[in-house]
Amino acid sequence: GDTELAATPPMGWNSWNAFSCDVTEGDIRTAADQLVETGLRDAGYEYLVVDDCWMADGVDDEGRLQPHPDDFPSGIESLAEYVHGKGLKFGIYSSAGTRTCQGLPASLGRERLHARQFADWGVDYLKYDNCGDHGSNDAIARYSAMGNALAEVDRDIVYSICEWGRNEPWRWGRNAGGHLWRATHDIVAKWTTDEQEFGLGIVDIIDQMHERGMDPHQGPGGWNDPDMLQIGNGPDSGQSKLEDVDVDRALTPAEERTHFSFWCLFGAPLMAGNDLAAMDDWTRELLTNEDAIAIDQDPLGVQGTRDGVLEETEVWSKRLAGEECAVILFNRGESTTDIETTVETVDMPVDAATYTVRDVWNDEVRETDGQLHATVDPHDVAMFRVIPE
Ligand code: DGJ
Repeated sequence: GDTELAATPPMGWNSWNAFSCDVTEGDIRTAADQLVETGLRDAGYEYLVVDDCWMADGVDDEGRLQPHPDDFPSGIESLAEYVHGKGLKFGIYSSAGTRTCQGLPASLGRERLHARQFADWGVDYLKYDNCGDHGSNDAIARYSAMGNALAEVDRDIVYSICEWGRNEPWRWGRNAGGHLWRATHDIVAKWTTDEQEFGLGIVDIIDQMHERGMDPHQGPGGWNDPDMLQIGNGPDSGQSKLEDVDVDRALTPAEERTHFSFWCLFGAPLMAGNDLAAMDDWTRELLTNEDAIAIDQDPLGVQGTRDGVLEETEVWSKRLAGEECAVILFNRGESTTDIETTVETVDMPVDAATYTVRDVWNDEVRETDGQLHATVDPHDVAMFRVIPE
């Protein structure tokens, strides 16, 4: 991959978590309008990505993908133009198999044709899934074929490898031309899931991002992707369109804050996944917090890791540019707890007599000689930026 194209983790919005397969060009135009009106675009969310189900059931005589005649009647080129007209970038979806996960035509064996087609349409981002028949091709071959095809077209296209972390894509995603690669299975809007259920909850993903040892492979131009955000979504997200603005939230406010804080500590791609037309102030404020986004977009591109565990409390940190650090104090337990740590534990890159501590979620600024602490509610976090004086 080209490191200038995704020098920091890509940010945007994707249709899947809120709309699933029930998506139309009208929904995408509304999402474009909403990204602008709500201030999300100006906070950094620039890629608007249509996920599965934009395509018709059959390909044309040459094997090109066609837009669904009823749901995308104006075609993809005019949709991309509309999105570009809002100062956004446009993304689309296909799969590295014969079919998408919803059974529609995909790109295996037609990579160059489809890459050219996407470039001609004005596509800036491709999410490339792992469904359908793979023939005799392994994951690296299938994903490299599209990576090479995208490198040949005369347009910058961010390449999102959606291989679900099956074959440790952090080891080969960059060589396959990828700018981000899914490191884990599909996220669901739940705190945790058991083994019988489909998908992973928020804490399951947090644990896997640490335990699978992928952090050394991430940096500018290539990002480990823990999947898209479920902030603002109801319990039925990913199943059907949200009909009701007052639908119960799947995650508590504390859990949503923890979700966003960890994605920022990981330097994860931030793809909002909620129905923007139904977004409330809590969700908007969470998604647009400048201090959290700055930690996500830090130019060093380090993935934060776990430094210590004490019963149900954990200390995590991420090295930032300018010899600064981001710190999360995480309470995964069920009772409010004081959590304490020190600058030594979080590996501050320099020793100083005093440090400034900016509390991301309270807007408070304090001085410390090295002690860090907070009282943290169940399933919640405190998040700091620590600056040596
Ligand atoms: C599986 C992917 O992991 C999801 O993010 C989504 O793209 C669906 N497929 C679409 O069918």
